[in-house]
Amino acid sequence: MSGYPETVMEVDRLRGGYIQQRGDTQVYVDAVSSVSFRVYRDEVLGIAGESGCGKSTLVKILYGLVKYPLIVREGSVFIDGGDGKIDLTKVDDDYKKRHVWWRIISYIPQNSMSVLNPLQKIKDHFAENLRIHMGIDKAQAYRRAVDYLLDMGLQEDVIDAYPHQLSGGMRQRVVIALALLMKPRVVLADEPTTGLDVIVQRGVLQNLLENQKRFKSSLVLVSHDIGIHAMVTNRLIIMYAGKLVEIGNTNDIISDPKHPYTEALIESLPKLGDKSLRKGLGGQPPDLRSPPKGCRFHPRCPFVMDICRSREPPPIEINGNRVVSCWLYK
Ligand SMILES: Nc1ncnc2c1ncn2[C@@H]1O[C@H](COP(=O)(O)OP(=O)(O)OP(=O)(O)O)[C@@H](O)[C@H]1O
Ligand code: SF4
Ligand SMILES: [Mg+2]
Repeated sequence: MSGYPETVMEVDRLRGGYIQQRGDTQVYVDAVSSVSFRVYRDEVLGIAGESGCGKSTLVKILYGLVKYPLIVREGSVFIDGGDGKIDLTKVDDDYKKRHVWWRIISYIPQNSMSVLNPLQKIKDHFAENLRIHMGIDKAQAYRRAVDYLLDMGLQEDVIDAYPHQLSGGMRQRVVIALALLMKPRVVLADEPTTGLDVIVQRGVLQNLLENQKRFKSSLVLVSHDIGIHAMVTNRLIIMYAGKLVEIGNTNDIISDPKHPYTEALIESLPKLGDKSLRKGLGGQPPDLRSPPKGCRFHPRCPFVMDICRSREPPPIEINGNRVVSCWLYK
């Protein structure tokens, strides 16, 4: 990235969660609480945090894939579509299908291998998208799809296969090829390499990164693996119990974490050449149905103060390029 960054997405005080059944009654449980950040053009923005902290829920809402039991309660997700900004929380699915999905923003869901229709050959997945969005005929769509599959290191005959005839890694690469097909401005990738063997993981990440660089697009990469973030992301969001607790440049965050949760997360990572046992992060994340009052990290925090138990820390900007939600910095 060079110069002043251009914003392509602006997420403002986003709050969303799930309707859950409890006995005879339905209750709403927050999974993402008051989250604000921007996505810049030509960057790789990482999202990290423990299992259940709301990473997948956040990217689903960023894509605008909000289906029962998921609902958005507050906030906005503006995306720059090239000829104006659209709030993805306000437009309906039909509009998103015709104008937004695949073209402006695409999404590689967690366990995305299951998104392929088992009754459709791979070529029909491509043809459908290309016909809807570009009005091109089947033969052209076929040629374009083959190019994309070859780009992903797949063989041409994959195009004639049904999803179940392909290995997990191959299906994952097909889903990624589909996501990149329309050259979208933003690609959301939720744990795109989890469950793949190491060699395939490297290839998948390389494809995503090459595409991002080639088109100066934005890649939002969810991974619980800080090692992957250290290798490929420019900026990093750390989430805890549905909250964004820290955001900044990845290298700065890893070399000098500010939020006590980030510090514990980094500290628990194995370090090269260091054979001593790493300190684990003690305790468990809270149950989102009844999160602790004040700072949600306070029951696990070694620096907890009185104020942390009663008042939620606001986002605090430090050094101009880091935002941390922690009373230690107020
Ligand atoms: N369909 C659903 N219905 C009800 N609650 C859900 C649903 N999906 C997720 N949740 C809850 O929302 C919270 C956030 O889940 P989410 O999947 O976003 O977390 P995550 O950070 O992506 O976790 P992981 O690292 O395991 O993928 C969790 O408490 C989870 O139990
Ligand atoms: S606000 Fe308090 S409890 Fe929360 S992380 Fe900071 S010091 Fe710890
Ligand atoms: Mg997830």
